[in-house]
Amino acid sequence: GAPQTRTPTGAETGVPKTAKGQQGAYLTTANGARLRDTDHSLKAGPRGPVLLQDHHLREKITHFDHERIPERVVHARGAGAHGLFTAYGTAEAVTRAGFLKKGRETEVFVRFSTVLGSRGSADTVRDTRGFATKFYTDEGTFDLVGNNIPVFFIQDAIKFPDVIHAGKPHPDREIPQAQSAHDTFWDFVSLHTEAQHHALWNMSDRGIPRSYRTMEGFGVHTFRLVNEAGETALAKFHWKPKLGVHSLDWEEAQMLSGMDPDFHRRDLYDAIEAGAFPEWELGIQVFPDTPEETFAGIDLLDPTKIVPEELAPVQPVGRLVLNRTPTNFFAETEQVAFHLGHLPPGIDVTNDPLLQGRLFSYVDTQLTRLGGPNFTQIPINRPHAAVNDMLRDGFHQHAVHAGVAPYRPNSLDGGNPFPAGDAEHAFLDVPVTVAQAPKVRANPVSFDDHYSQARLFWLSMSPVEKEHIIRAYTFELGKCYHQAIKERQLQCLANIDPVLCEQVATGLGLPAPQPTVPLADVTPSPALSQVGQEWPAD
Ligand code: HEM
Repeated sequence: GAPQTRTPTGAETGVPKTAKGQQGAYLTTANGARLRDTDHSLKAGPRGPVLLQDHHLREKITHFDHERIPERVVHARGAGAHGLFTAYGTAEAVTRAGFLKKGRETEVFVRFSTVLGSRGSADTVRDTRGFATKFYTDEGTFDLVGNNIPVFFIQDAIKFPDVIHAGKPHPDREIPQAQSAHDTFWDFVSLHTEAQHHALWNMSDRGIPRSYRTMEGFGVHTFRLVNEAGETALAKFHWKPKLGVHSLDWEEAQMLSGMDPDFHRRDLYDAIEAGAFPEWELGIQVFPDTPEETFAGIDLLDPTKIVPEELAPVQPVGRLVLNRTPTNFFAETEQVAFHLGHLPPGIDVTNDPLLQGRLFSYVDTQLTRLGGPNFTQIPINRPHAAVNDMLRDGFHQHAVHAGVAPYRPNSLDGGNPFPAGDAEHAFLDVPVTVAQAPKVRANPVSFDDHYSQARLFWLSMSPVEKEHIIRAYTFELGKCYHQAIKERQLQCLANIDPVLCEQVATGLGLPAPQPTVPLADVTPSPALSQVGQEWPAD
């Protein structure tokens, strides 16, 4: 039979921004009983004590007492917006995903965020920015949970708690909120040298974006695409902002942190309300799906590596326009729950060990953050595709499921076997062969190269961008208390580039060490510089 829709789709439940609150002729309790007075507690006489029997008082205060939910363990500070994605059709040869077919329009919700600060922290701190997009496709929701930096600190998700502990405020003093101005962060990245590439992007102007509207976005990991014929390709996702990539100057960023800590949130909201809708183009870099899973010698499973755009051009596949601000921040921006496992037919995962761990982490944390297993029923998280699952009960269950036999096949509820479904639109795991190999706690050897791409990034910068990077390292390392940590990080900089190391060492008043690894012979990639990243005029 036809799938039962468990809950109305998000489209049906969207509350317009023009809707007014509390416009009825009278207020009620949560149970619908009319209230005569919500301003005075029930007392034993005007001067007497408040009575425990005042159930309206208790309901009002109790609900208030529970208004807050835990903030996200990372990416707590964010701002979101609704929009529309329109596909060009240029990805049809490599993926069967329906939302990428020519002319297809898909509603989206995007949440931008900082990583390390708490919910109330300032927007313009030096940090990585989250760029998470929920595509409500008619084949199920697709979440592209990316960042504004194309590489990550670590190569294996098992280190994620460690890198976040190193980046979050010191446990004794709870300072600072900004990412990098303290010892534990620099201790981590100088000991776990795979983090050097990401840290260099953070020290560049990319770490202090001018606006969410002027950030690139990256899916970071390599994904596996499948087309109608079942052929596979490997791919990386990119968002290119129409306004080009622009950053703040460090002095601007610091002043704004004090004068307008909501700078990015306000900018996004005001731009959309003024009709200046932010736009991005979604693009993919496509690589042959070879058994080695490498391209031009670059390991595609290593999330600390990019593939320069000169070697694999970013091919535009669609356009995103953000055109509507949330009606209610809590209901939408705070309760939205992204998950890398939300994949439509035609897009699948790879064995990137960071990606594999993320597949577990998001739902796990959301079970706590959103109070149980039914958060996909919250309006912002509801798929726009019909849902017909056999999940039952649990905290905050909103569906009234009919029938007695939530299992297939059964002989009671219609008795039909597991329906074949609409095979054309079904998700299929790509039957990739898994190697017969001994179990190990080890990385591929290629993951040991921690410096060549950091050097590539540094050498691709314009003179002014290099100057900003030197100032950023000097400022941030200057805040460390431990001399040994500064020296160890200078050693890492020497392994990236001796000029970079010397300049920072001079700023810190320390000697510049010699490289301990051979310097990689790399060709600069102009696409890594922010200069000249605007779209051509329409
Ligand atoms: C949240 C990106 C690595 C765990 C987020 C968010 C983004 C993001 C954009 C914010 C989502 C939102 O706006 O609600 C990334 C990227 C990564 C990465 C691009 C690396 C390529 C990891 C890893 C883990 C992890 C390795 C854990 C093993 C989390 C958790 C949240 C989160 C627990 C909070 C989710 C919630 O409370 O809803 N991440 N992340 N992330 N990430 Fe990641």
